[in-house]
Amino acid sequence: MRNFDENTITDAVLARIAGASDPRVRQISEALVRHLHAFVREVRPTQKEWEYGIDFLTRTGHMCDDKRQEFILLSDTLGVSMLVDAINHPVPEGATETTVLGPFFVQAAPERQVGDDISGGMEGDPLLVTGSVSAVDGRPLADAVVDVWHSDDNGYYDVQQLDKIGDLAMRARFRTNADGRFHFWSIKPAAYPIPHNGPVGEMLEAQGRHPWRPAHVHFMISAPGFEQLVTHVFVDGDKYLDSDVVFGVKDSLVREFVRYPAGRAADGRVTNTSHFHLNYDFGLKRIAAAKQE
Ligand code: BEZ
Ligand code: FE
Repeated sequence: MRNFDENTITDAVLARIAGASDPRVRQISEALVRHLHAFVREVRPTQKEWEYGIDFLTRTGHMCDDKRQEFILLSDTLGVSMLVDAINHPVPEGATETTVLGPFFVQAAPERQVGDDISGGMEGDPLLVTGSVSAVDGRPLADAVVDVWHSDDNGYYDVQQLDKIGDLAMRARFRTNADGRFHFWSIKPAAYPIPHNGPVGEMLEAQGRHPWRPAHVHFMISAPGFEQLVTHVFVDGDKYLDSDVVFGVKDSLVREFVRYPAGRAADGRVTNTSHFHLNYDFGLKRIAAAKQE
């Protein structure tokens, strides 16, 4: 087969991959070719535009290392990460909704005791976070692992300023107590722009978009027999809730961070300044029997 033109090339490529032995590889390859060719037919790129596209993807790859993952940022900002998340995480009644993981999760977060202050001495408004972890039927889950991480008062994560602050801060791993509850102190996070000094930032600018995420606290919660929950809780009233650059906001994940005057806080601690209090009760869904290994 030869002499392909605009009308025959797609079928020729599809025919060439029809023999893939793994049916899933074949299905994915076929869909990729069909959609990619349809995209090119619709856009009708000039040769120069095509070269720009190749260069954009090349620079995106060159920007990736163990600290920066520009391809995930590209997926996030094009709404693909949230689409994959939606497909894979239907939410039954009582289960907490999911959202993007983001690039600032650290596997080896310090293990802390319920009640600890995890701010690492960072400046900001004191924040008490209280919460519970239960099954969707309301049964409390003791000993669940709760990873938390969030930005500082200026919108930076610890890992973005290790030179300055020297150690991890505003992140920790807790275990829920016998009642499935946990609490900790930190500082109230601020909204922040995603890293936008690379190809993704160039794309956002060209598309007339801002790079901001509304302020939030990340949670990753695991318990044996339950699906791992990856989510955030957003600060109610944040001006970016309706234009999150990565499309991650869901109403059920927005909570008021309530301001209290100096005095006794909900955990019994006495403070001499005002503080904010966030409470969130998380629901985990069981791993379907068929999915358990
Ligand atoms: C984050 O919330 O940490 C995040 C998520 C997606 C892209 C960049 C940052
Ligand atoms: Fe974040």
